[in-house]
Amino acid sequence: MEMLAHYKGREQAYIKHRLLEAYLERFFMIVGQHQRTICYVDCFAGPWEESCDDLMDTSIGISLKVMARCKETLLKMGYNVNFRALYIEKNKKSFHKLTNFLDVRTPAIIETDAKQGEFFNLRPTILDWCGMRDFTFFFIDPKGWKNVVEIPTLKPFLQRENSEFLINFMYDFILRAHSQKGLECDIKAIFGEVPDTKGMTSKEREAHLLLRYRTHLKYHQPKGGGKPRSAYVSVLDPAKNRTKYHLVYLTRHAKGVEVFMDASEKLDLIQKTVRAKTKQERSEEKTGQSGFDFMTEAYDEKDDRGSLSAVKSFWLSQLTGVPQNFGIEQLADMLEQTGWFIRDFQQAFGELLTEGKVENLDMTNKRRTRFVHFDKRERLRKT
Ligand SMILES: C[S@@+](CC[C@H](N)C(=O)[O-])C[C@H]1O[C@@H](n2cnc3c(N)ncnc32)[C@H](O)[C@@H]1O
Repeated sequence: MEMLAHYKGREQAYIKHRLLEAYLERFFMIVGQHQRTICYVDCFAGPWEESCDDLMDTSIGISLKVMARCKETLLKMGYNVNFRALYIEKNKKSFHKLTNFLDVRTPAIIETDAKQGEFFNLRPTILDWCGMRDFTFFFIDPKGWKNVVEIPTLKPFLQRENSEFLINFMYDFILRAHSQKGLECDIKAIFGEVPDTKGMTSKEREAHLLLRYRTHLKYHQPKGGGKPRSAYVSVLDPAKNRTKYHLVYLTRHAKGVEVFMDASEKLDLIQKTVRAKTKQERSEEKTGQSGFDFMTEAYDEKDDRGSLSAVKSFWLSQLTGVPQNFGIEQLADMLEQTGWFIRDFQQAFGELLTEGKVENLDMTNKRRTRFVHFDKRERLRKT
């Protein structure tokens, strides 16, 4: 939480940046052991609302720091990976700051480049810069949605092999637009149809729109290769109980989903703490009185993830009396389908074991938390 003071009034960006940092680190370290070159493209780079000169509160500073750290760690492990980064920014003033920063601060071991212009128009240039082969992570973090998140806009990227995406799906904007007259074409380009959400509660509507978008993204991935997969993290308004945006992740690797959901699980308590702290500060500013204990509030905050009994029922629906191997592929399927965390599945399986309802045939000694070792493809069954 040491950087939080730099994010006053935009605490949601702190959550976004912690996720980006945690996921990129794991991603670079895994991919770096198999690839000679890794590309990173920040399609809406900024700097944007930055408050430190070292840009450590922006995706630019964070990505460079993580790349430099991973490059060095990988070198020590015997992997000399070539890291390349491209930053896109439309605004003239921000672009000037960006290029000044890159000139002075790019670590010698990283190759960086920047292009000024509209993301939409620069798409062919970006794809040229990446080439066809190298593994590339695209960070797509716009301010709105038009000419960005629609599938026809993203299609040239979605069709590229060896690509992963983190897309800021601006739910606030999209919710307002999705049922607006005159925007049907745009909405169809995002969801593949004009979603009919009449009669849904706000939670149902949000889940429906998000699922439709993720399904539409996956549908446009190239046929063949790994199964398209997607997961997401919801970033909430720091002081209100509603979603600010979803960070939608897209990959062709089951391991990617596991790592992304692990990073988002770790982020969960950070997000709750930041929200409780922000609410406390805002209430103190209003009333002039010091308020509640924000850490207690953070631990108590309820979320929309499944109750333990729902997770247990889900487990039972996945198992039969015949032993089945549960590996990373099956774990990724379950994470994608439910949006629950790995710890939810472990905890629920542990309870079912205690109740004698399930069995792990490969569990030879007593375990306290990791009741299934998915990396070992353990055999599970219903008793
Ligand atoms: C939300 S901010 C990016 C924040 C940054 N990714 C971060 O996390 O620190 C969006 C940035 O995209 C720029 N931008 C807006 N529309 C753009 C477009 N069509 N093409 C390229 N850049 C654009 C804005 O000037 C702004 O700097």
